Amino acid sequence: MGEAGRLAVVSGGGTGIGAAVTRGLVADGFDVVVVGRRGDVLRAATERIGADCGRAGAVRAVVADLTDPGQLSGVVEAVDGRPVDAVVNNAGGYLGGDTGTLAGVAAHWRANLDANVLTAVLLTEALRPVLRRPGGRVILLSSIAAQRGGGGAYSAAKAALHGWAYDLAAQLGPEQITVNVVSPGYVAETEFFGDRMTPEGHAKRVAATLVGRAGLPDDIAGAVRYLAGRDAGYVTGQVLGVNGGSVLGR
Ligand SMILES: NC(=O)c1ccc[n+]([C@@H]2O[C@H](COP(=O)([O-])OP(=O)(O)OC[C@H]3O[C@@H](n4cnc5c(N)ncnc54)[C@H](OP(=O)(O)O)[C@@H]3O)[C@@H](O)[C@H]2O)c1
Repeated sequence: MGEAGRLAVVSGGGTGIGAAVTRGLVADGFDVVVVGRRGDVLRAATERIGADCGRAGAVRAVVADLTDPGQLSGVVEAVDGRPVDAVVNNAGGYLGGDTGTLAGVAAHWRANLDANVLTAVLLTEALRPVLRRPGGRVILLSSIAAQRGGGGAYSAAKAALHGWAYDLAAQLGPEQITVNVVSPGYVAETEFFGDRMTPEGHAKRVAATLVGRAGLPDDIAGAVRYLAGRDAGYVTGQVLGVNGGSVLGR
């Protein structure tokens, strides 16, 4: 509970990595505002995490599509004038689409850029004025696909977060606000792959690690908790790979 009294906002906090991050931050003492599009999913996660951590009321849910600038006001209202200690930009995912026409290509790229870049940019910009100064944390969830390819428009969208993070770290550094990227490798037990994952795909991804296993949401949450915490104040502008050794040294 070393972070008691602090406030975090976690996008996509109702499922997968975001739910694990929320649970971890609540265990650390943070109050958390979770944001996503599905109210029922968010409410279930909110109740489960609050009860499991013995801190009912520590998590509040805000329903918003973070690709839509008109839907950010609810997040700002939920923060209720408190300084925000950590913004965890976790919402995102791979969006497919019919790329058989140029119109389809454009729609596919826009959807992936919206889901992975705009969600993070809009949430961060909405909360930028109320980030804690000094001491705020901005964390972006990227992907191993940004570092080694493999996801087309998704890879490109996640890579865009890296360049933006470097600029944001430079802008906010003088105010003692850090900006870092967590880049997960293969993480099972989330909604990310939907029905796209096969036993062969799973085995291939596990074989590409040095530790011989799939990542779990808590593996990624551990890195986010460190970066969100008080001990990480001298770490900024970094990309932290959490991938079981699938990509080395970057
Ligand atoms: N699983 C992996 O192997 C893996 C690997 C590398 C990176 N990542 C990244 O890690 C992050 C978390 O993914 P996950 O694996 O935990 O998958 P997930 O369970 O599908 O989580 C994604 C979350 O984002 C929310 N979300 C998506 N679009 C949104 C929008 N427009 N506005 C608000 N919320 C939105 C979703 O909730 P709603 O649908 O209710 O909005 C969902 O809770 C993603 O950015 C993903 O790209 C995952």
